[in-house]
Amino acid sequence: MQFKIRAATKGDCKEVSRMIMELAVYEKMPDQVKISHEELERDGFCQNPFFECLVAEVPEEHKSKEGLTIVGYALYFYTYSTWKGRTQYLEDLYVMPEFRGNGIGKGLLSKVAEVGKTKECVRLQLSVLNWNKPSLDFYAAKGAQDLTASEGWHFIRFDGQNLENLANEAPKDE
Ligand SMILES: CC(C)(COP(=O)(O)OP(=O)(O)OC[C@H]1O[C@@H](n2cnc3c(N)ncnc32)[C@H](O)[C@@H]1OP(=O)(O)O)[C@@H](O)C(=O)NCCC(=O)NCCS
Repeated sequence: MQFKIRAATKGDCKEVSRMIMELAVYEKMPDQVKISHEELERDGFCQNPFFECLVAEVPEEHKSKEGLTIVGYALYFYTYSTWKGRTQYLEDLYVMPEFRGNGIGKGLLSKVAEVGKTKECVRLQLSVLNWNKPSLDFYAAKGAQDLTASEGWHFIRFDGQNLENLANEAPKDE
């Protein structure tokens, strides 16, 4: 199947937002999605964007049952390793079910890596739920290392009241 991978535009945010919800449903946590397409537009298309995004687009003749031509996305941003330097973090990779198995996921992932290479990034990291065996296999097949298995890293998060408390406890400048 023919497809094109390109940088998302502000105008793609509604479609990306739709697929973010589809991915959350797949990940069995749709209630966790609080983001709107307006926030994506604001945060991805400002002077210092918080993320970058690629979309996969198929020609009209291959559009989905619902008439959609944007059928996948990869959303990533830049991080920094004090051991290695410039790195990328892949927040989401998603291809709509009816378009899977056509090389689109691999295309998106490779394109993220290519963008990173042009910026001298030396790592591409991401997180996968432990039951998401198809995706664990997909990344492993591309040569990714499972750091939880090999190095025992835990994935830690502050949010909500815990984050609020932490911020409120910050030492005040005199
Ligand atoms: C993971 C995902 C993005 C892969 O996209 P895709 O378009 O179906 O994958 P591709 O067609 O590009 O497959 C590329 C390669 O991976 C292999 N592959 C795809 N799915 C695989 C799987 N479940 N297990 C093992 N290999 C797999 C393909 O055989 C292909 O191999 P090849 O290069 O040797 O031919 C897609 O299945 C998806 O959106 N899944 C649900 C969401 C998800 O789990 N996202 C990741 C969250 S971290």
